[in-house]
Formats: sequence, C-alpha cells, structure tokens
Amino acid sequence: MKVLITETEIQAAIKQLAAQVDADYRGRPLTVVGVLTGSVILLADLIRGINLPLRVGLLQASSYRGESTTSGRLEINPDYTPDIADRDVLLLDDILDTGKTLEQLIRRVESLQPRRVRTAVLLWKRERTTVDITPDYFGFEIPNEFVVGYGLDYDDQYRNLPYIAALEPADLPESDTT
Ligand code: IMP
Ligand code: MG
Repeated sequence: MKVLITETEIQAAIKQLAAQVDADYRGRPLTVVGVLTGSVILLADLIRGINLPLRVGLLQASSYRGESTTSGRLEINPDYTPDIADRDVLLLDDILDTGKTLEQLIRRVESLQPRRVRTAVLLWKRERTTVDITPDYFGFEIPNEFVVGYGLDYDDQYRNLPYIAALEPADLPESDTT
C-alpha cells in the first residue's frame, strides 16, 4: 500500500473544514448528515471541530446491483436522520467519485424539505466526476486511484487506517478469496 495522505495532513484539513463551516453558518443551527458507512470517521472528527448548535443524522445507502454496472439505483434509508425540515443540512460523504451516489442522496435529502443542503467530502476524484456537482467543502483532490483508510474500504476492510492509502496489486486478494 502506498500512503497518499498522512494522518497529520488529514487532521489539519479537517480543522480547516470545521473552521470554514463555523464561519459560514455563524451560530445558525445545523444538522450534519453522514452517509454510512464511509463517512463515520470523518463525521466524528469534523463535528468535534465545529462550534455550532448541532444535530447529527445518518443515512444508509445501499446500491442495487443492476445488470449493468455503475448506474445502479440506490436504496436510501433516512430512518436515522432527525427532522430536518427548515434546517440547514451538511451532507457528508467520504468521497466524491462519479458523483452518482451523492446526486441521489442530495435529491433524497431535499425531499425532506430542509432550508438548504450543502455537501462536504474528504476526497474528490474530480477527473472522474460526471454529474454536475461541486462539493461545497472538500479536503483533498486525488487522482484516479482506488484508495482506502479513514473510513474508506475495500470489501469492508481498511476503514480503520488513520491515513489514506492507494491499493496496489499486491494488496488485492488472490482469485481464491476467503
Ligand atoms: P460515486 O457514486 O461514483 O461518486 O461513488 C461513490 C461511492 O463509491 C463512495 O461513497 C464510496 O463508497 C465508493 N468509492 C468510490 N471511489 C472509492 C475509492 O477509491 N475507495 C473506496 N471507495 C470508493
Ligand atoms: Mg462506500
């Protein structure tokens, strides 16, 4: 594995993001809604840097594997999101890749009638983004490599790494995975 972003760099970026959020909302109540499971580490670190009256929600998004690859529909479960009607919402995800996930999540959150939705991601693979979304807050732009750590997984592993690393062929399981 090749470390792309160190723990120190991540923590510094999150401090800056939290300061920006503080300044932008200036004491207005905010609901931070994290997308399970990838955003949980970021959520925990970010909200501890924000000095605002704050609620936390979670969205569970599971993609249906259709017959054709990436454009699979998402099933979104908002049961763990408190009432956001007329509230400012910051929708938080680990990474913006093609953007198809975030696009559907934004639509779903907007159907709950919030005052305004903004988006924040730790990582942005800008060159792969095909939808018309620019995150309001992001930590790092990264090249088109598959990364893990700090919440991001490969096959539900590596989320606990405190840094972001790119997987290399040697990290991938042999064909007889268990
Ligand atoms: P999108 O819909 O293409 O933007 O994909 C977003 C989702 O794909 C993210 O929420 C991640 O779960 C996953 N994903 C995209 N790129 C990576 C990566 O490099 N490592 C781990 N997960 C990724
Ligand atoms: Mg994921």
